[in-house]
Amino acid sequence: MGTSTMPSRSNPTSTSSAVPTKPNSPSTLVGVYRKPAAEFVRGAGVELFDADGKSYLDFVAGIAVNALGYGDSRLEQAFARALDGSLIHMSNLYRTAPAEKLADALVAASFADQVFFCNSGAEANEGAFKMARRWGRGVGGVAKHEILALRGGFHGRLFGTLAATDRPQYRAPFRPLAGGISIIERDLDDLAASLNPETTAAVIVEPVQGEGGVRVLDPAFMRALRDITRERNVLLILDEIQCGYGRTGAFWAYEHSAIIPDILTTAKPMAGGLPMGAVLATADVASAMQPGDHGTTFGGGPFVASVALHVLERLRAPELLANVRARGIQLSDGLERLRNEHAAIRAVRGIGLMWGVDVTMPAREMVSRAMELGLLVCSAGEHTVRLLPPLIVSEKDVARFLVLFEEAIRG
Ligand SMILES: Cc1ncc(COP(=O)(O)O)c(C=O)c1O
Repeated sequence: MGTSTMPSRSNPTSTSSAVPTKPNSPSTLVGVYRKPAAEFVRGAGVELFDADGKSYLDFVAGIAVNALGYGDSRLEQAFARALDGSLIHMSNLYRTAPAEKLADALVAASFADQVFFCNSGAEANEGAFKMARRWGRGVGGVAKHEILALRGGFHGRLFGTLAATDRPQYRAPFRPLAGGISIIERDLDDLAASLNPETTAAVIVEPVQGEGGVRVLDPAFMRALRDITRERNVLLILDEIQCGYGRTGAFWAYEHSAIIPDILTTAKPMAGGLPMGAVLATADVASAMQPGDHGTTFGGGPFVASVALHVLERLRAPELLANVRARGIQLSDGLERLRNEHAAIRAVRGIGLMWGVDVTMPAREMVSRAMELGLLVCSAGEHTVRLLPPLIVSEKDVARFLVLFEEAIRG
């Protein structure tokens, strides 16, 4: 192990207030991320600590993954139980109880009749696209195959999902992208013009667009989208990878518009930080999938599924969802006050514990200033700062966040 090539943790030559980043440091990790120099070593509640002992209030939560925060004793017990003399992995060649119990629990908690497990968000969306195309082949012998995604949407970085992701800078270096997947405007007229009953298999939508700037789609738009997809026999796929599992204050984001999708994808917080994703589908769609049509070595393994059963129960708890709503209102009120008082804040958008703050400076600069002050936030586009705290965040944590965020805005 060549430790001499690791980047050093501090940058003594830096005199600016910006947190040092080392994009060009020699490293054995492929350089697709620009990481700050701090190295995180432990966490407690909503707090993280770096190797120098500095503490940070975490409003990123591993990008909406660490919903239960850090050091949660019940989650740790669930990990221990899942390990205790049990199986870690069996592949999908054999039955194991935890995956079947988890699928039952997800079906009981949603519109769905069947579930396919995988290992990440992008993989869940790839699975959803395949299900939609497989279903599309069965409709009257016509191969409905096109997948439509919305302007501002983000669905992952694999080939199919990249073609559905509206980020020119992510797409350009990898053209040609996967075919049969197009982006349409977030507009009912464009939808009406684009949905072809003969060729369109599905529309994929995030009820709250996360990476695209935290845009809460209007429930009336969602209902109109459901109506038109139904009229034209097109599937509606909801990508709830970031906005589902309690983040908006309802367990599923689709509950806010009272619509029922045909397929839903989920991932991030599902398994307490272990990689897991899932595709939930109605019987009509799922029954199109035949043995051999899709697969994964790791998806739904007994260890990860056991932990996910615990997480599902915790994140569906009415008290947890009530906390998300109450803290969301506190955050919304506090951010609105800051917007009124600081010209550097242009707009504030969000729901529950998923917020976007448009700032006049580059979002990256705000992320850096906040980190210097001991606050972790992330970006969602050039000028949007995104807030995704753990769902267990307290009133005191939100109050502390508002103080630190205001300090960061002042610079
Ligand atoms: C809405 C949405 N879909 C898909 C993905 C891709 O998930 P993953 O990074 O686990 O592949 C993300 C990740 O941020 C996401 O926010």
